[in-house]
Amino acid sequence: MTERTKTLSATSDGIAEAAALLQSGRLVAFPTETVYGLGADATNGKAVAAIYEAKGRPSFNPLIVHVKDLAAAHQIGAFPKAAQRFLSGGWPDGLSLVVPLRPDTGVSPLVTAGQATVALRMPSAQIARQLLQAFDGPVAAPSANPSGRISPTSARHVLSGLDGKIAAVLDGGATTAGLESTIIGFESGDPVVLREGVYQVPDDLPRKTVADEAGQVAHAPGQLASHYAPLGHVRLNAETALPDEWHLGFGDIAGDRSLSEKGDLYEAAATLFAALHEADANGVTRIAVAPIPNTGLGRAINDRLSRAAAPR
Ligand code: TXA
Ligand code: MG
Repeated sequence: MTERTKTLSATSDGIAEAAALLQSGRLVAFPTETVYGLGADATNGKAVAAIYEAKGRPSFNPLIVHVKDLAAAHQIGAFPKAAQRFLSGGWPDGLSLVVPLRPDTGVSPLVTAGQATVALRMPSAQIARQLLQAFDGPVAAPSANPSGRISPTSARHVLSGLDGKIAAVLDGGATTAGLESTIIGFESGDPVVLREGVYQVPDDLPRKTVADEAGQVAHAPGQLASHYAPLGHVRLNAETALPDEWHLGFGDIAGDRSLSEKGDLYEAAATLFAALHEADANGVTRIAVAPIPNTGLGRAINDRLSRAAAPR
């Protein structure tokens, strides 16, 4: 189905219109502190199905449910004791928790892809919080990009992939963090990292490696190789670029465009997807990326970069 995608401003009127569209089963993209999400009423199976259709996403890939507060999170998920460790200071920025799904929550089984667990997240970004308050229900939202492409960090990125396929995008400017949320699940009550992301987890937490053979159900399919890909070929750890390459710099390596001249990992995370979108928009066919230190947020950046560089 094609339709005219509205750009709504992040005013109280725009947010009210976005909430009304969600209520009527339509799709609305909205900014969170991580990336733009493609939202639908999580209790409306048809609306959720429309997300899969708009993204062209394989149906075994479950969606994150966004809630307005902790009470709403606890109505949907049964939080293990160990989850408290992450929530003691309120819900942290850029964190999604995968917990057992409670019975009879009204959340469509399409959201969890039939699994017994649900991924929950309470975004901290003001516009997302206002939208969730206004809608007053759980919102299923994957990143607002066609399946396999880079996550959007601006309304323009959303439109470049989904214009004509969704009802509206709520324009809140560039997202602050620029990478997806960290996903943590629990095994026998103990936390395991399913996807690196914005929330920085201590190094001692176990990372779950997920098989990536095609068709295999992954714990967090964001872990499949070649999941976050620009159109061009990507070469990593490039201190210098070849003549036909567009060079993404970092720190002392200037490149054609720098992820962060100061060598700041936060700035690099916030710029990464925008830089890759810029490469796509300019028809770049070969991208070389300067080395990024593999510490702190650098782990999440390198995780995304190695997927962008994976053979397709
Ligand atoms: O920052 C983010 O997480 C953004 C914003 C919009 O919230 N969302 C996002 O969603 O990145 P998406 O769908 O692109 O990635 C969600 C990941 C997928 O890899 C999915 O498989 C995993 O979460 N996931 C969702 N539910 C799950 C579950 N029950 N068990 C394991 N993994 C799950
Ligand atoms: Mg995604």
